[in-house]
Amino acid sequence: VKGFHVQDQTTSLERKATDVVSDLIKARYAGREVPRANTFPMLETMLAHRSVRAYLDDPVHPEDLSAAIAAAQSAATSSNLQAWSVIVVTDPERKSRLATLAANQAHIRKAPLLLVWLADLSRLRKASRLEDQPGDGLDYLELFLTGAIDAALASQNAQVAFEAMGYGTCYIGSMRSYPEEVAAELKLPPEVFPVFGMTIGREDPAKVTSVKPRLPRHSICFNESYDASAQETDLGDYNSAMRDFQTRQSMPLVSWTQKSSRRVATADSLKNRDQLKHCLRRMGFALK
Ligand SMILES: Cc1cc2nc3c(=O)[nH]c(=O)nc-3n(C[C@H](O)[C@H](O)[C@H](O)COP(=O)(O)O)c2cc1C
Repeated sequence: VKGFHVQDQTTSLERKATDVVSDLIKARYAGREVPRANTFPMLETMLAHRSVRAYLDDPVHPEDLSAAIAAAQSAATSSNLQAWSVIVVTDPERKSRLATLAANQAHIRKAPLLLVWLADLSRLRKASRLEDQPGDGLDYLELFLTGAIDAALASQNAQVAFEAMGYGTCYIGSMRSYPEEVAAELKLPPEVFPVFGMTIGREDPAKVTSVKPRLPRHSICFNESYDASAQETDLGDYNSAMRDFQTRQSMPLVSWTQKSSRRVATADSLKNRDQLKHCLRRMGFALK
């Protein structure tokens, strides 16, 4: 690994790893753009990410879960506040009730493990009381956002760790559709909010999916200042890349612009999450 970047020391094994990374980048950009990249094992894991929604019954090994949680706790966290927590759910009945609350998604029931990632200000409220501090900062939107960001960074580290250990995972944003009911199920105290769930398990080899192409790099990454000049062309290109992907995967054909614009069309399109601000206030977040 040490000599990875030294050209004349490259072994055939390292060249092979470079080919894998090149192929994955090609898949990620639908073959339209293949930037050169150095390779290292973690990059390969990240580039190979796919959401997995079909699982075998095999349980997640407790040591693997511990490793993933350690990876999550190793993520950067704003001012070391660690304003997040996570609930490990394996009980089939609880998982089923949570699936019902999360748009009835079948893969939540099927996955052997569900993690519910939480923005958690309750610990900081306690620390404030212990130190006779007012804790007024906790009442601001900024601290809710801090908790949500912390939870996202931690969960993403866990996702990469699980994928590196050969598991498949899928985020569950629908856990926010009925957050108060989720909170009751998980006995969450005030000022603790389920940001999203994550299913984990061994992927069913009969239902393996492919790397999903993303927008071209130049439409999300700009040099020095924002540049939307190529946006319309890029969206057209991406629509056809996604159509090709859907054809290969035998999925219904729907362009990205069509699907995404429908997803944000009206308050109703948010599937009860248009109520979020009111739910959060009832859950103890003042959001000043
Ligand atoms: C915060 C978040 C919430 C998500 N919620 C769901 C969900 O409720 N159900 C689901 O099947 N996939 C969900 N996903 C997965 C996305 O649909 C998926 O990441 C996206 O389509 C890209 O596909 P890929 O992950 O296979 O590359 C979610 C992803 C994120 C990041």
